[in-house]
Amino acid sequence: MKKVGLVGWRGMVGSVLMQRMRDEGDFKLIEPVFFTTSNVGGKGPAEAGGVPLKDAADIEALKVLDIVITCQGGDYTKEVFPKLRAAGWNGYWIDAASSLRMADDAIIILDPVNLDVIKAGLSKGVRNYIGGNCTVSLMLMGLGGLFRHDLVEWVSAMTYQAASGAGAQNMRELISQMGTLHDAVKAELADPASAILDIDRKVAETMRASSFPTKNFRNVPLAGSLIPWIDVPVEGGQSKEEWKGGAECNKILGKPAFRSPGSIPIDGLCVRVGAMRCHSQGLTIKLKKDVPLDEVSDILAKANDWVKVVPNEREISERDLTPAAVTGTLTVPVGRLHKLAMGPEYLGAFTCGDQLLWGAAEPLRRMLRILLD
Ligand code: HSE
Repeated sequence: MKKVGLVGWRGMVGSVLMQRMRDEGDFKLIEPVFFTTSNVGGKGPAEAGGVPLKDAADIEALKVLDIVITCQGGDYTKEVFPKLRAAGWNGYWIDAASSLRMADDAIIILDPVNLDVIKAGLSKGVRNYIGGNCTVSLMLMGLGGLFRHDLVEWVSAMTYQAASGAGAQNMRELISQMGTLHDAVKAELADPASAILDIDRKVAETMRASSFPTKNFRNVPLAGSLIPWIDVPVEGGQSKEEWKGGAECNKILGKPAFRSPGSIPIDGLCVRVGAMRCHSQGLTIKLKKDVPLDEVSDILAKANDWVKVVPNEREISERDLTPAAVTGTLTVPVGRLHKLAMGPEYLGAFTCGDQLLWGAAEPLRRMLRILLD
């Protein structure tokens, strides 16, 4: 059995990964070794079989592994990965962090979309397999069929990203903000005769007050508002999250580097909204030709086992195409499909997916299974 080291298994993405591995019986197929950055010698999960946690910075302990899966984050990767390779380790590194994604010797993993790229990497001896940015992975899970059929000239993605993408503390803060707003107008809400504009004024005052809990969202409210910037600025007015859309999508699809000839232009604006863990996206897709809508639906639906085409009707869209419907599931609905006013080659679409499952943990787990096959 392959010795598989797990690092960062206790964090938010790591916990989702552990649950999925339990659900799918992955632990029966491996010899797991659990690592920690803060609790060396401490007690591991049940799957550790009573073996104390090992030091995640201990190169000698990591060197004996066939595979490392880490959800520990980019700082850990930057610190440990080069040392481990320098020590001659030749195993497979599966990582949720972005640090190695764009490296020439790394493949971005999303096997329902790019199994061919992964398999080509394996046969060339590539050893580094990195999970993609959540928004990118969820968009490709939804739209994969159109790319596979080479129908996409360009995509503009306008995102509605959940608090979980910013971290566990941000999810907590979002709920605290919601509670604080409610508390501020509880009495007025209980009184049907109270004036809505008084309630609204109090809510606005509360979210602008210095006492409003905003530390994790860089001192701005999210509940009752939104934040039109995610991650650091890069060149040309883009945020890094927006840059990743183009850079990572093309790499996942095995296309030439973004902005070079043969690549697909993918760009848009990334916005944080008050959803918990599902990222949504409103998409404008310029098709290479006028493809009838029923054909588009068919191509999308057949692309993988998790995408679900939602008919472009009001009730079912309100019910099935939302974070509330999708959260905690692997289903990636895509809907609102219709031709836009710009012309028959312009397709409108909306998609939604769980940022911690297909957006983070699931591609890692599936890469492990590919290596075990
Ligand atoms: N960067 C993403 C976000 C999450 O902030 O929503 C991780 O891919």
